[in-house]
Amino acid sequence: MPLVVLGIESTAHTFGVGIAREDGKILANINSTYIPIHGGILPREAARHHANVAHKIILKALEKADIRLEEIDGIAVALGPGLGPCLRVGAFIARILALSYDKPLIPVNHAVAHVEIARLTVCARDPLFVYVSGGNTQIVAYSQGRYRVFGETLDIPIGNFFDTLARELGLPQPGTPQIEKLAIKGKNIIDLPYIVKGQDVSYSGLLTAILRKFKEDVCLEDLCLSAMEYAYAMLAEVVERALAHTQKRELVLAGGVARSKRLQEIMQCVAEEHDAIFKVVPDEYAGDNGAMIAWTGVLCLKSGITIQPEESVIRQRWRIDEVDVPWMQ
Ligand SMILES: Nc1ncnc2c1ncn2[C@@H]1O[C@H](COP(=O)(O)OP(=O)(O)O)[C@@H](O)[C@H]1O
Ligand SMILES: [Mg+2]
Repeated sequence: MPLVVLGIESTAHTFGVGIAREDGKILANINSTYIPIHGGILPREAARHHANVAHKIILKALEKADIRLEEIDGIAVALGPGLGPCLRVGAFIARILALSYDKPLIPVNHAVAHVEIARLTVCARDPLFVYVSGGNTQIVAYSQGRYRVFGETLDIPIGNFFDTLARELGLPQPGTPQIEKLAIKGKNIIDLPYIVKGQDVSYSGLLTAILRKFKEDVCLEDLCLSAMEYAYAMLAEVVERALAHTQKRELVLAGGVARSKRLQEIMQCVAEEHDAIFKVVPDEYAGDNGAMIAWTGVLCLKSGITIQPEESVIRQRWRIDEVDVPWMQ
């Protein structure tokens, strides 16, 4: 019988449960996202949302996969990185399930899960990943036992940049598609700070500069167009260098912001110039989701990576390059 793992995602705004089978089939992917009414995400409110929906989401996933908890081979959970109160909900539920049903508990890193679900769903072997989301902006590739970081944001992640910008401009959330929608109508690129330091990018100065221009009555569509083009151009520069240095032959876009059509276009060009194949994670698996935790749980379980419930502490700042990925060898 092929292994089947149930995975729980609760690192930030989404509570998700996925069920994945060893052969790569995703049997269920049920997610519920907390949308803040005012301002940014409030960790405790999001955690309350997760606790409230957990029971329903788990049952729905089991029903979708047509499987009982007794038949599951392991319980995977994203222990980090993420927001403390949110992580605690997922970890708590996963421990209870593992203990009650006597199943191995599998610790999953949320960032590893984003890239692994991308690798699975686009059938990539050993790509350079551009991992872009609300909480992360990293360029990563496998080397010697781990995913290594070949560039990242020095301050705010790109999705957070767009979400904050949208909020300040009075636009709804999530911000990235809102900015992109207005950008299409923009005509002029205005002068803004372009900040690349070595292999890293920085978005906070760009954000401040745009908000200053907004107060000066610059056309909103032009502002959105410029914000997007600057943010993506900075990323493209470091991705291009990372591709040249790592010599990877595939470029894969992963994470919530991978759904941006303009970013896909730009990364496609970067890949073509370096004779790399370009692929994008499907929309369903771009944002936070339970399936990515379940699938990474399968990979971990096959490599013997499990954790005792009493040791399964959450890790708010758990970096992708701290995680061994023996299945990549
Ligand atoms: N259609 C879309 N196109 C581009 N970006 C999107 C789209 N929908 C949501 N996003 C962005 O995805 C980000 C969330 O990514 P996700 O991976 O789900 O979360 P997190 O970073 O919290 O793990 C947000 O910054 C949001 O603006
Ligand atoms: Mg994420």
